[in-house]
Amino acid sequence: MCPPTPPAPGSVLSAADTPATRQPQQNGQAFAPGPLVHESTTGGSWWRSAVIYQIYPRSFRDLRGTGTGNLAGITAELHQIAELGVDAIWLSPFYPSPQRDAGYDVADYTDVDPLFGTLRDFDALIDRAATLGLRVIIDLVPNHCSEQHAAFQAALEAGPGSAERELFVFRDGRGTGGDEPPNNWQSHFGGPAWTRTTDADGSPGQWYLHLFDSSQPDFNWDSPAVHAEFERVLCFWLDRGVAGFRVDVAHALVKEPGLPDWGGTADGSPVPGFPFDAAPMFGRPGVHAIYRRWRDILAEYDGDRILCAEANAHPVDAVADWVRPDEMHQAFNFPYLNTGWDAPALRAVIDRSLAAFDAVGAPSTWVLSNHDVSRHVTRLGSSAPVRFGDGLGPRDPQPDHAVGLRRARAATLFMLGLPGGAYLYQGEELGLPDHTRLEDGYRQDPNFFRTGGERVGRDGCRIPLPWTPGGRTLGFSPAQTSWLPQPDDWAQLARSVQRGDAGSTLSLYCRMLAARRRLGLGSGTLQWLSTGHAPGVIAFENRGIAVVLNTSSASVDLPAGEVLLASGTGDIQHDAGISRLGPEAAVWLRRTPSST
Ligand code: NOJ
Repeated sequence: MCPPTPPAPGSVLSAADTPATRQPQQNGQAFAPGPLVHESTTGGSWWRSAVIYQIYPRSFRDLRGTGTGNLAGITAELHQIAELGVDAIWLSPFYPSPQRDAGYDVADYTDVDPLFGTLRDFDALIDRAATLGLRVIIDLVPNHCSEQHAAFQAALEAGPGSAERELFVFRDGRGTGGDEPPNNWQSHFGGPAWTRTTDADGSPGQWYLHLFDSSQPDFNWDSPAVHAEFERVLCFWLDRGVAGFRVDVAHALVKEPGLPDWGGTADGSPVPGFPFDAAPMFGRPGVHAIYRRWRDILAEYDGDRILCAEANAHPVDAVADWVRPDEMHQAFNFPYLNTGWDAPALRAVIDRSLAAFDAVGAPSTWVLSNHDVSRHVTRLGSSAPVRFGDGLGPRDPQPDHAVGLRRARAATLFMLGLPGGAYLYQGEELGLPDHTRLEDGYRQDPNFFRTGGERVGRDGCRIPLPWTPGGRTLGFSPAQTSWLPQPDDWAQLARSVQRGDAGSTLSLYCRMLAARRRLGLGSGTLQWLSTGHAPGVIAFENRGIAVVLNTSSASVDLPAGEVLLASGTGDIQHDAGISRLGPEAAVWLRRTPSST
């Protein structure tokens, strides 16, 4: 159930609220049907059209007074997420970890870090979610572990040539005395992707590979023992009732034999002469066999459980390789997230995504924010592009929050009209921006440290949620401080404040998600509507609903129909029987029969 608030005038209209005087006239050839680019998938599995809400445990809710969020905090507030109208949650890592990369450095794959609680707390969370009708997906991190993992400690101790070292990627160095790294690969977080060990006698030893921080050694997926261990981990959590796994860096597990030098980027984003499909650490053919085996394991369980690839492959056609019929179920659509406020580019990436995913019989997913990228309120309010995996700091030009929020609401309304699955990131339903004035002393992201501060990193998009307008942590924690401080002006964004406000971003999310479910848009069609007369405008029809996005600074005429939802208060104006959509806004409207 959404918060019981009446719709605000001119912003969030339900069918019953739409007066007859708001029926506009047909506007010439505008919004004439164009190509049908995606057919309906009615009757498919739940995940084909699901909206999945990402919970970042350390910043969701602290019930224990440590200043860091925990599983008990999630369980206590989960009804508020169910109220939003999502289908499932995805939990970022909560496993035992030294937290050098916020838990993506796992020291034990089958337990809970005391920071977050216990396995009992996890079971309670699963039970609560089931009661609320939510599925729970967890994060699996198979490319690397923590240097504190028992297997890596054993490998260090056992020395070169041992079976223990076979589980990781140890190599002798190049050059005199092996002083140079075995190849030129760079870490995603900056600096070389290799760190040298010290032998028992104190002399310099072999090097180990880490595509991320030096505290995150890569596993050797040529080793059958690594396969066996992760199959055990999958079953451990499947037996506890998880609905599936979001698979971290899913494209990187298998490396090219011989580990050849690579002149491309560390994250595989293409540069001239170095296309993604030539990168020796990404998308190697052998990686797909792993997921085929995992899919077979999931299929042995009831409940239609899923694998979702975090495979930041380029272009989007390459992402579809992870969701071929016998591999994963979903993959994140980062090309969509990275597209920005550009109507023709959005249309192009949607066309390309639907073509690529339809060709392999998988749903596309859509996403605008997560814990690795500046929130879309901040990105869309910034005059300069914000790099994926980085953020903005006090020394950067500051984004315009009002512009960002206006665009973000429109971008989300547009996205949720698309057929396929969608991912939301905690706090976007409150319209949260990043904390872009976080002082260096608070920084925790290894990106910041490994680049000497050149990249401020991702802490700004990971700030603890505001629940209430009062108190030192805005209801996040009973402690006096939280693990990262909240910006001074977040009280007005608190969930309890927004619950009673029909024009709030929270109310808009509730209405969007309820309408999306009621209208079956996630399993619907996509047919473009012509908008040639209006630059910066794109529109499509899904199950009789026209979804219109206006990225321009001018108002545009709308086709005849009944306005169901608009992204902002006052975005729909009426003049002489014609409805107009305001600048930087989006709308869903049910088309009247004569308008199609
Ligand atoms: C992707 C995760 O989303 C990110 O937070 C993490 O730092 C890297 N993978 C390494 O695990």
